[in-house]
Amino acid sequence: MAEEILLEIKDLRVNFYTYRGVVKALNGVNLKIYEGEFFGLVGETGCGKSVTASAVLNLVQNPGKIEEGEILFKQKNLLKMSEKEIREKIRGKEITMIMQYPIAALNPVINNGDQIAEALIANKNMNESEARKRTIELLKEVNIPQPEKIARQFPHQLSGGMAQRVMIAMMLSTEPSLLIADEPTTALDVSIQAQVLSLLKDLISKHRATVLLITHDLSVVAETCSRVGVMYAGDMVEIGTVDQIINNPQHPYTKGLIKAIPSDRSKELVEIRGSVPDLVNPPSGCRFHPRCDYTKPICKKEKPQVLQVEKEHVTACFLYEESRNKKSKEEYAGEYKGGANGRTDSA
Ligand SMILES: Nc1ncnc2c1ncn2[C@@H]1O[C@H](COP(=O)(O)OP(=O)(O)OP(=O)(O)O)[C@@H](O)[C@H]1O
Ligand SMILES: [Mg+2]
Repeated sequence: MAEEILLEIKDLRVNFYTYRGVVKALNGVNLKIYEGEFFGLVGETGCGKSVTASAVLNLVQNPGKIEEGEILFKQKNLLKMSEKEIREKIRGKEITMIMQYPIAALNPVINNGDQIAEALIANKNMNESEARKRTIELLKEVNIPQPEKIARQFPHQLSGGMAQRVMIAMMLSTEPSLLIADEPTTALDVSIQAQVLSLLKDLISKHRATVLLITHDLSVVAETCSRVGVMYAGDMVEIGTVDQIINNPQHPYTKGLIKAIPSDRSKELVEIRGSVPDLVNPPSGCRFHPRCDYTKPICKKEKPQVLQVEKEHVTACFLYEESRNKKSKEEYAGEYKGGANGRTDSA
């Protein structure tokens, strides 16, 4: 894994000012993505995954407001850039995004080939014939059979899987540094999902891009990603390598998500009881406490700090803090106490 940080999100807070009240969608999110890695962001519906992605692309729209935080991309704070600068230099160029519904995201009145060719002409300084030639190459690269024919067709003539391949070709055409894929396979048939994911994985390593893969499905992350961030109700509750998260989860929410993976048909699926809270009135303290089986009085009062479990592995949970303190009293007096990726996030 390259150690260069490509994207760093610091204390990101986003609210939506709705008629029902203020939706506290992101409650101080911290995250680092290294160059060249496949980072997975997981959590149930409504946990703030898409809002995080939209903030990176400066797409948080009314009634949403980024209240606080920094989004450092190649060490420059995107939140300090003007919309014009983001549009001209970042969005669709340095950072591109694949959405859940590719057919809706493609322009319905432009044929598939021209969508890609136009992106190449606009962003890669190609002339029309160069762009057309490269378009066909890109369509071949995403395993589209009969690329010339598909290029002449329109988005509505494509199956979901084919449309997602066209979208991927288009999003790779500008050779972005960061590709954000927000539930790229959720809308596809199960049989196609694995194909599209493995295609994405192959292309990313070939193009040396970095990926932020957003999904509610931890098993997708386990198969595709190098590191994972687990989000719950606007908080990042645990970050680690796939191995750390799957084999040594610390946060009760992460443990709950793992138990809910349909791995063994003979085993009964154990859903996490309750549901993600309404973020107009989020629970006090640790936002997970009403659903947690280990809630203590402090969990209702204070937001847990982000604590280091081991290298690359952090979690925000009083349970972990308590067990660590016990351990350190017993055997590890003087153990290093760091925070998230070396920093500490206070409530
Ligand atoms: N335009 C909006 N207006 C009001 N609230 C919003 C808006 N967009 C998002 N939210 C709220 O922000 C929170 C986070 O939403 P977000 O879409 O990021 O969740 P998600 O993790 O992407 O969920 P899903 O898995 O369903 O895509 C939710 O409480 C949601 O209701
Ligand atoms: Mg979403």
